[in-house]
Amino acid sequence: MQTQKILILGNGGREYAIGLALSQDTRVEELYFAPGNGATWLLGKNITYNDNHELVQICKQLRITLVVVGPEEPLTKGVSDVLRENGIRVFGPSARAAQLEGSKAFMKDFATRHNIPTARYIKSSDFEEIRAFITTLTPPIVLKADGLCAGKGVIITQDSQEALEYATKMLSGELFGEAGKVLVVEEYLDGFELSVFALSDGKSCLVLNPAQDHKRLLDNDEGPNTGGMGAYTPTPMCDSALFEEIRREIMQRAIDGMARDDMPFCGVLFGGIMVVRREGRLVPYLLEFNVRFGDPECEVLLPSLETPLLDLLCAEDLGGLAVRFKPNYSVGVVLASQAYPYGKSTSQRIFIDSFDDALGHIAFAGVELSEEFAGLDSKASVALGGSLSFSEIQNGALLASGGRVLVCVGIGANLVQARENAYKIAQSIRFEGMQYRKDIAMRGIRFLDSQDSQAR
Ligand code: AMP
Ligand code: GLY
Repeated sequence: MQTQKILILGNGGREYAIGLALSQDTRVEELYFAPGNGATWLLGKNITYNDNHELVQICKQLRITLVVVGPEEPLTKGVSDVLRENGIRVFGPSARAAQLEGSKAFMKDFATRHNIPTARYIKSSDFEEIRAFITTLTPPIVLKADGLCAGKGVIITQDSQEALEYATKMLSGELFGEAGKVLVVEEYLDGFELSVFALSDGKSCLVLNPAQDHKRLLDNDEGPNTGGMGAYTPTPMCDSALFEEIRREIMQRAIDGMARDDMPFCGVLFGGIMVVRREGRLVPYLLEFNVRFGDPECEVLLPSLETPLLDLLCAEDLGGLAVRFKPNYSVGVVLASQAYPYGKSTSQRIFIDSFDDALGHIAFAGVELSEEFAGLDSKASVALGGSLSFSEIQNGALLASGGRVLVCVGIGANLVQARENAYKIAQSIRFEGMQYRKDIAMRGIRFLDSQDSQAR
């Protein structure tokens, strides 16, 4: 493979993790982020663009050989199509394929058409039709806005009266604006969740180790939903038989279905899976598809890849490749700012004590450069690391700018060790108002303990 000049679109921990993995590959010559965050200066160079036309111009000027798209929004707006039309290689699906995430109704109809197991549902804008369907469900009842709502469009109601009240607010646009005027109403599935990722070239797919996210803000899955407060991989809750069923009946069926529907899916398909116990057997159901890596799942998955990420992102034919994993576990603990997820927090300076590299590393997300370092873009001549050093970051070069600030990624030979390492890294970090969950990966550890005691 020729050396690569790579541009990563996005500014979160996921994009930092992709950049970190690529920066360790000797075939990567230059690394750019648009817009990136304060810490991506550690890995490469941040740039900005205003629209897809300008993005194409920049890619041509910089001789970019690969664009990796992190978040869903530019994908649903067609960034991959525009880049491909201009002869620029891109990792990310077309706008048509991105409807799998952009429209819940599209996803549910697609799943039904292609025999992918998913919760029983109705898609409608008609109150009477919704009311009639709700009478067939046993509460809780799940309501979803059809369009993208930055991860907030799902409401779980405890009885049909409450469901009807929310349906009215969604149909009128009061709750989610236009995105909520078409509703998906579905049956509630009671089980445990998995995050499963399939890299696809449009035909074949390679499925990565299963991960588990922690969506609620507080310990014991209490408090409001967030973008994800931590993740770990691989999870012992998914054995090889269950994994194979998810691979075959959900992920590969989706890739085959998209090809058959003439919108081949090239990129990474993220299946949000609910595993339900039915008649003594674990049965996986698709909750949602996303058309990108999960965040913070990406931050724990990429460090455990043995196969170089670059090979996977550039492969035109994944059929001939296998994906190999290191035999270890990773646990990611998100440190969030004080007001997350309710509102904006004021910027706070971050300080980091030295920690042993063997514990793992930090993936930075909601961080910006402090004033002393502003203007780094005009000074930075190199596009592969070097503009900012980790010791500058340790000593206050970064401000926590809000939301999820960073992810402490602990690596270990087993889940307990990886978890301990992640929390040791967390203890070396200080910023005002910092909050984090204390029970990341405990579900997996408890599962292992219960298996041990059954075996005894
Ligand atoms: P989604 O954006 O569709 O993944 O929904 C967000 C979260 O809502 C999921 O991660 C689940 O925790 C929950 N959820 C969504 N659909 C269902 C369902 N049918 N049954 C139970 N929980 C659900
Ligand atoms: N961690 C869930 C997501 O990225 O949507």
